Order: sequence, then C-alpha cells, then structure tokens
Amino acid sequence: MTNTRSIWAVVPAAGVGKRMQAERPKQYLELAGKTVLEHTLTRLLQAEIFTAISVAISIEDPYWSELTISKNEHVLTAPGGKERSDSVFSALQAISGRASEKDWVLVHDAARPCITAADIRLLIGSLQDDEIGGILALSSHDTLKNVEGGRIVGTLDRVHIWRALTPQMFRYGQLKQALEASAGNPAVTDEASALELLGFQPKIVEGRPDNIKITRPEDLPLAQFYLEQQQ
Ligand code: CTP
Ligand code: MG
Repeated sequence: MTNTRSIWAVVPAAGVGKRMQAERPKQYLELAGKTVLEHTLTRLLQAEIFTAISVAISIEDPYWSELTISKNEHVLTAPGGKERSDSVFSALQAISGRASEKDWVLVHDAARPCITAADIRLLIGSLQDDEIGGILALSSHDTLKNVEGGRIVGTLDRVHIWRALTPQMFRYGQLKQALEASAGNPAVTDEASALELLGFQPKIVEGRPDNIKITRPEDLPLAQFYLEQQQ
C-alpha cells in the first residue's frame, strides 16, 4: 500500500434483521462469545488500514452503546436511515469534515463477520490505482435459471454472473454523489449499483466464499464454523 491517502471504512449496521426472525437485530446476536457486529468491527480494526470506521446505528438501538467497541478511538457512530443506502450515506456524512473527495471508502455489511484481512488487502491492492473502484464478488457454481410463474424460461450464462459481496470500494466524493443521485431508488441494493446507474463499470475482485452475509437463522452456525476455521 504505497500511497498515503486515507482509507475509510463504512459499516451499515442499522437494519432490523427481519429475515433472521430473532428477538434482536442480527448484528447483536452472539457468535463464540461476541456479537456479530463486534466480530465484524474487530476484523476491520485488525486490518490496520482504516483511518476510521464510520458505523451507522439505528437511533432506536439500545445495544450499541453497551459495547466497549463503540468507544474505540477509531470507531465513529452515525444515525442509521430507512434503507441500507440511507445508512451508508449518513455514515459518509459523518466523516465529511475529514475525508477528501478522492479518498477510498470501503463499505462493509455489519452482517458479514467472516471478512478476512487478506480479502480486504486483496481488494485494496487490486483497486488502488483504478479510476472507479469495485467490489468483492463470487462466481456462481450452480447453474442459474430464469424463471417466470414457477417455470424455467431460460438458463443464464454463468460466465457473466457474479454474486456481489462486501467490502465495496469507491472514492468518497463519487460514492456520495452516486448515492445522492439514486436516493429512493429501490434497485440500489449495494454501492456498485448506484455507480452503475451513473454509467460506471465497477471492477470485480474474486473474494473468499466464507465471507457470508448472515441473513437467515441457518447462517449463524455456518458463520461460527467459518470463524473457527479461520483461527
Ligand atoms: N442496514 C442498514 N440500514 C438499513 C437496512 C440495513 O444499515 N436501513 C444494514 C444491515 O444492518 C446489514 C446490511 O445493511 O448489516 C445488509 O442488510 P441486510 O442483510 O438486508 O440486513 P437487514 O436489513 O437488517 O435484514 P432484513 O433485510 O432481513 O430485514
Ligand atoms: Mg435488508
């Protein structure tokens, strides 16, 4: 990592975890003695790359201030928003006085605690000289079908299909601009799609398959297994 520009992390952690059907938002469920969010932030801190980590937290969240990590000098708190993209935008606003337009920002889901320092370094190393930026992604092993009304109407060409993971890495100014331009657009479910709408083509960097997003109940033991495997 040769250049001296600041690199920032943004962590949207203001979701309710509806699909998880737990008694609290999934980022506060426990995995091997720590909450999912603590695992995620610890992994980002351990990478020793980020000037600060801006975390979006719901204003109704009673759990965050109880965690020691919320007081870490490299961790900032921003108010969460209605959609994930609103939370990301808010976390970007929180560093507006410190971040420069051309600084890189890595946006990483709170719900992906198995992120490795190796993947973070791979992403940054692959993109730091890029004009646009890009994302960690996975190719698909399964054959993928186009389905209408419960019937297959076609098979997708797998070569062109990738699954978008996080972190997603873009320039501070450009990312803010793209999120502003696409505000309220339900098609914008990640940062890359906001950039795509402006006509940019973010780069794909192949990530590790254990960087799963905890989404449904069965994902929690799987994440625990991966965390143990990675030790
Ligand atoms: N997120 C956020 N603000 C929102 C919605 C989501 O910061 N308004 C965050 C979540 O906390 C999570 C990440 O975005 O870390 C990815 O979103 P997702 O997996 O969809 O989490 P939830 O929205 O909480 O889950 P669900 O969609 O099942 O309700
Ligand atoms: Mg969601």
